[in-house]
Amino acid sequence: MALPRRKLKIVVTVVMVNLFIFILATRFSQERNGRNKILIPSKSFWTKLVPNQAYWNRQQQIQDVQNNPILTANSSTGYMPDWLNDTDSTSDPCQPNFKVTTQMKDYNSLPERFKDFLLYMRCRSYPLLMDQPSICEQPPYLLLAVKSLAPHFDRRQAIRQSWGRAGLIANQTVVTIFLLGNATAVDHHPDLSEMLRYESSRHKDIIQWDYRDSFFNLTVKEVLFLDWIQKSCPGARYIFKGDDDVFVNTYHILNFLKGLSGAKSRDLFVGDVITNAGPHRDKKVKYFIPESMYVGSYPPYAGGGGYLFSGDLAARLHNASQSVALYPIDDVYTGMCLKKLGLAPEKHKGFWTFDIEEKYRSNPCAYKSLMLVHPRTPQEMIKIWTWLSKRDLNCQ
Ligand SMILES: *[C@@H]1O[C@H](CO)[C@@H](O)[C@H](O)[C@H]1NC(C)=O
Ligand SMILES: *[C@@H]1O[C@H](CO)[C@@H](O)[C@H](O)[C@H]1NC(C)=O
Ligand SMILES: *[C@@H]1O[C@H](CO)[C@@H](O)[C@H](O)[C@H]1NC(C)=O
Ligand SMILES: *[C@@H]1O[C@H](CO)[C@@H](O)[C@H](O)[C@H]1NC(C)=O
Ligand SMILES: *[C@@H]1O[C@H](CO)[C@@H](O)[C@H](O)[C@H]1NC(C)=O
Ligand SMILES: *[C@@H]1O[C@H](CO)[C@@H](O)[C@H](O)[C@H]1NC(C)=O
Repeated sequence: MALPRRKLKIVVTVVMVNLFIFILATRFSQERNGRNKILIPSKSFWTKLVPNQAYWNRQQQIQDVQNNPILTANSSTGYMPDWLNDTDSTSDPCQPNFKVTTQMKDYNSLPERFKDFLLYMRCRSYPLLMDQPSICEQPPYLLLAVKSLAPHFDRRQAIRQSWGRAGLIANQTVVTIFLLGNATAVDHHPDLSEMLRYESSRHKDIIQWDYRDSFFNLTVKEVLFLDWIQKSCPGARYIFKGDDDVFVNTYHILNFLKGLSGAKSRDLFVGDVITNAGPHRDKKVKYFIPESMYVGSYPPYAGGGGYLFSGDLAARLHNASQSVALYPIDDVYTGMCLKKLGLAPEKHKGFWTFDIEEKYRSNPCAYKSLMLVHPRTPQEMIKIWTWLSKRDLNCQ
């Protein structure tokens, strides 16, 4: 038996070698004949940076080049094409940028909110009107930062009396702040500044910046908040940021955080994560973005209703945000900054930004093991918090 098998091996080997020689020979002869030549690219095979037709993408390309030390080292040699040269880099980014009105061909036909956004897209700093610079003198374990609007007094008060109660919860320090812009006359808001001043002196938890508090400016709120953390609360261990119409189970969040350590705790970013999404092209949708503004899909992002992240990551996000052009949808923007850091938010099933099933909404036990639910009225927040704070809440 052994002999024929060895013979077979030899035969197979000889055949293979012959076949190999045959292939080589035919290749060479073909080349000499000029047929089937090995293809040598006639043009450079690396991609040349061509200007993207969408305005946001193009602004990001410019930023990427400006932040690339290899390319900028030689910017004086005239290597940079004109479109990459942000000639206005010396002018005040907080003055309206009228160049965009000609750089975007459909600018004039865009809805007003886009025009407002585009004119001020480069401005990232606005003066503080109200601040609490020493609110984090004792660095909190958990900072609850709530996006609010000046007229929402009742929501803020309900949060103070329920899930946003500052102080010691489950033996951990919690600090609550409200993030506000200016509710301006442009948007027909009544002047509530006196009442706001009273509220701020009474509760000392309002941070307000002087910019127009509109939906498309929520990204401004985000970058101002990232600045503020580094300046006034860099020691916060964890940060929750969310809307003022959500209920947060602070007990459950603290319990979840207690179990974290190492990289899991350092890189923490959890929420209701949306993946494989992209811009809405239907003009009637609140989240509509025209093709002339943005092309491409969105990176994974955590819904802006509320998400939880580490103070360590807040510092890195602050850094990354400096090189990501402002985008009119704040939670998508934060996803872009995370992507810049090579990170992605993690989905946690306790974040119910699209609410729980109706039949469970009045069941106290339904709230015990969730982190966040949206939406809830001020009265509901207080009611649910009372349920959760009962010692004898017995859920199986
Ligand atoms: C910059 O340009 C000079 C001359 O054009 C070249 O010698 C040098 O290698 C370039 N430096 C970089 C970092 O590309
Ligand atoms: C960019 O534009 C400015 C202002 O017009 C000009 O001074 C500078 O030389 C330009 N840089 C390059 C690399 O073209
Ligand atoms: C509360 O926290 C303090 C300081 O972190 C610690 O010394 C104390 O033992 C804790 N008490 C309880 C009941 O966990
Ligand atoms: C904020 O908005 C109010 C109301 O429109 C306006 O009177 C005020 O000038 C704005 N700015 C500041 C700094 O309050
Ligand atoms: C954002 O705020 C700035 C400063 O108040 C304002 O000029 C701009 O119009 C606002 N943008 C939007 C989209 O409301
Ligand atoms: C922020 O960026 C600077 C410069 O790029 C770097 O030195 C610093 O370590 C960064 N900080 C964080 C927290 O990533």
